[in-house]
Amino acid sequence: MKKTAIAHANIALVKYWGKRDIALNLPAVGSISMTLKALFTETSVEFREDLEQDLLILNGDKASETQARRAGQFLELFREEAGHQRKAKIVTRNNFPTGAGLASSASGFAALTLAASKAAQLTHSPARLSELARLGSGSAARSIFGGFVEMDHGKNSNGSDSVARPMHPADYWPLEMLILITSEAEKEIGSTAGMNLTAETSPYYKAWIDTAEADLKRMRQAIDDRNFTRLGEIAEYSCLKMHGLAMSADPGILYWNGLSMTLIQAVRKLRKNGIEAYFTIDAGPQIKVICPPGGAAKVRSHLENIDGIRSILTTGIGPAAYIVDDE
Ligand code: DP6
Repeated sequence: MKKTAIAHANIALVKYWGKRDIALNLPAVGSISMTLKALFTETSVEFREDLEQDLLILNGDKASETQARRAGQFLELFREEAGHQRKAKIVTRNNFPTGAGLASSASGFAALTLAASKAAQLTHSPARLSELARLGSGSAARSIFGGFVEMDHGKNSNGSDSVARPMHPADYWPLEMLILITSEAEKEIGSTAGMNLTAETSPYYKAWIDTAEADLKRMRQAIDDRNFTRLGEIAEYSCLKMHGLAMSADPGILYWNGLSMTLIQAVRKLRKNGIEAYFTIDAGPQIKVICPPGGAAKVRSHLENIDGIRSILTTGIGPAAYIVDDE
């Protein structure tokens, strides 16, 4: 049976960086994210008798061996549970640039999880789907849900409590976000390698772990109160703390380019001039600007003429992952 799922990307307001178990991909810290309406992955999975190996079509082209193997290995989880060995044809498409720090692994693995679960005719609760997606990529656990989402680092050694859960639905607080693309090049070091190197070598790693809960607590409160200033301040703080941590790895990891820094300064200058907006940045050079409800167009008009910006996406808050065909 063929099933197609759509999952939206998400952006962490309080960041995940570091794993408590590498094999099971269990995060060392919790995180809080917003699911993004305008960025999504659409993935179909079809388990077939006639295939000798898993086949992955990514954005219209046959994917590399490595990518196909990663997706194929992930599907073993579903084959095992369903009790068959059929290989799969996976067709997947992002509506945004792949691999440039725009969380394609989050929406990608969330969509793959949901499509594979349905195609294998398994019945998984949302929490179990989140747990399965996490095995593909930590941030993917959050993309199973819409709106504001919290991911727990969990305590169990098998990872059953390292799952995301919805905090508030997409319409709870219609924040907006601008995504400023500063480069379309693939990043030099991916988030998995980057966070593992950080955990092994940064003298600041323990402090990062020790202070994570306080950030989560403050962010929960800011969201519960719909306090935009507090949300923005904590998001910027968590972002800079994560990047400072990555920079303190040996060798230091630097995800920004010159334009990223220019835009960071520009967002802070906007605030000085009374236009409230805050930045956040993942493992790449793109700048995401968090804007209040109805605020993105104005913020955009002040930033869009800065030299070198490749493109700008505007988004609101998006829904949970869902199945698009039901034949
Ligand atoms: C900076 O979820 O991509 O975006 O679990 O190793 O696949 P893996 O890492 P990934 O890392 C996300 C890191 C981040 C922060 C975040 O989204 O919380």
